[in-house]
Amino acid sequence: MKVKIVEDYAEMSRDAAEVVAAMVRQKPNAILGLATGSTPLGMYQKLVQLHREEGLDFSRVITFNLDEYYGLAPDHPASYHYYMWENLFRHINIRPENIHIPDGTAADVEKECKNYEARIRKAGYIDLQVLGIGANGHIGFNEPGTDFGSETHLIELTETTIQANARFFASEKDVPRQALSMGIKSIMRSRHILLLASGEAKAEAVAAAVEGPVTQMVPASILQLHPDVTFIVDQAAAQYLTGSFDVLLQNEKNAEYDKANR
Ligand code: PGA
Repeated sequence: MKVKIVEDYAEMSRDAAEVVAAMVRQKPNAILGLATGSTPLGMYQKLVQLHREEGLDFSRVITFNLDEYYGLAPDHPASYHYYMWENLFRHINIRPENIHIPDGTAADVEKECKNYEARIRKAGYIDLQVLGIGANGHIGFNEPGTDFGSETHLIELTETTIQANARFFASEKDVPRQALSMGIKSIMRSRHILLLASGEAKAEAVAAAVEGPVTQMVPASILQLHPDVTFIVDQAAAQYLTGSFDVLLQNEKNAEYDKANR
């Protein structure tokens, strides 16, 4: 597990976009696992900019989103379908048929979950999975206690997640109580994983995930067992880390490269 500590949200977003862009340049038909929430917004803005200004080509890219609220139609403004189209897809040249997001309105949820997992498998699994982290340590919507062996499934949101996400709805009571989410095992099958965290509210979860015991009570702690994980964390979110991990140190050359590419 590598941890890169950056100054702030803007630097986290630029670095994350560069990691995604590098994957797409290197493998034009890359399979990306995508996340929603506030954290990756800056990264998506930067990717749109790279597409517009440098022609970053998404025409062969395939995407799988982590999760979707159960019961929300794709055109609901708080749905993750809506979020993805607004913040990324409609600004780049991705093909709609290459986009996958769990269907929150599926009549047979169990079947939808199985099909979603099958689509990931059939595509050849995810090359690069982008993750945020909940203040309770969740990844995707896999709340504390979720089985590490889980695949795409219907989950019950915890009270803390409902409260945290209420800002996207008219009121807290409008937040769906359930969601479809890739499971922990689905996430762990990705070849590379990039977790982003910004702000003090995530500091405890980041420390528990990176330096705490691997436990189902902190879903992100499983990432310690994955062979290729990078956390990009801003200083506020990194404040409880004590340093017993592999810090990604940049040499001067990398720093120069970064500068030239911003
Ligand atoms: P946030 O959510 O990016 O909106 O903070 C992250 C998460 O809950 O995984």
